[in-house]
Amino acid sequence: MANEKDLIIPGHIAIIMDGNGRWAKKRLMPRGYGHQAGGKTLEKVSEDAYRLGVKYLTVYAFSTENWSRPQQEVDTLMNLLRDYLKDSVKNAKKNNMRVRVIGDISRLDTDIQDQIRLIEKDSAQYDGLNLQIAINYGGRDELVRAAKKMAKAYMAGETDIGAVGEAEFNGYLDTCDIPEPELLIRTGGEIRVSNFLLWQMAYTEFYFTDVFWPDFDRAELVKAIEYYNGIERRFGNA
Ligand code: FPP
Repeated sequence: MANEKDLIIPGHIAIIMDGNGRWAKKRLMPRGYGHQAGGKTLEKVSEDAYRLGVKYLTVYAFSTENWSRPQQEVDTLMNLLRDYLKDSVKNAKKNNMRVRVIGDISRLDTDIQDQIRLIEKDSAQYDGLNLQIAINYGGRDELVRAAKKMAKAYMAGETDIGAVGEAEFNGYLDTCDIPEPELLIRTGGEIRVSNFLLWQMAYTEFYFTDVFWPDFDRAELVKAIEYYNGIERRFGNA
C-alpha cells in the first residue's frame, strides 16, 4: 500500500452509488432508509474527495430508468434530492463547492427545477470541489439530446456540420465544460456501467467494489485511488 500523500489523485471521479436497497434490507428496513443513508454518505464522501484533492466528482443519483421503480420509492428519492439541493445552498458555501446537475431536468417537478437553477447560480462562484449530480440522466439520452441541439444549431445556420469533430460534439453534452473522469467507482458489487457517462468514459479506469454505498467511506475511497495508482494509463498506446 502506497503512502497516502504519494498517491496521484484523479482530477475527476465518477461514482455509481449502488447498494442502498440491499443495505437497508440487511437491516430489515425499507429501501428508502437505504437511500437516506446514501444521501448522508454522499455528503461525507464529497468532503473527503475534496480534502484528498479531487476537483470534480460526478454522482449518479437518479437514472432515466429509475422512473420504473415503485412510485413510493421514486417519491422518496425525489424528496431526498429536494432536501439535498436545499441543504446544498448552505453546504456549497461551507465547502467551497460548485454544484451542477446533469440530465434532462425538464421531467422533474418544477420546484426541483427551480432549486437546481438556484443552487447552480448560487454556487457558480465557488472553485473548490465541482460536484455534478446526475438526475434523470442516461448516457444515451444525453447523446440524443446533444444530437438534437446540434441539429437545431445547424438549422439556425450556427454550425458548419462538415467541421464538427469530437471536440465540437462534446460541446453539446451536459458535461461540455467538465473534464472526462479518470476513475469510475461502482459500489454494490455489480459490474456494469448502467448507461452512465457513455461518451465521457471512453478512457476511464473502472473500479468495482462489493461495499454497499451507505458503507462507503474515506478508507474505501483511498482504496479505489490506490487501485487507480496501480494502473499504467496508456490511452491505446503500446
Ligand atoms: C442505487 O441503489 C441507488 C440509487 C438508485 C439512487 C442513489 C441515491 C442516493 C445515493 C441518495 C440520494 C442522492 C442524493 C444526491 C441526495 P439501489 O436502490 O439500486 O440499491 P440495490 O441495488 O441494493 O437495490
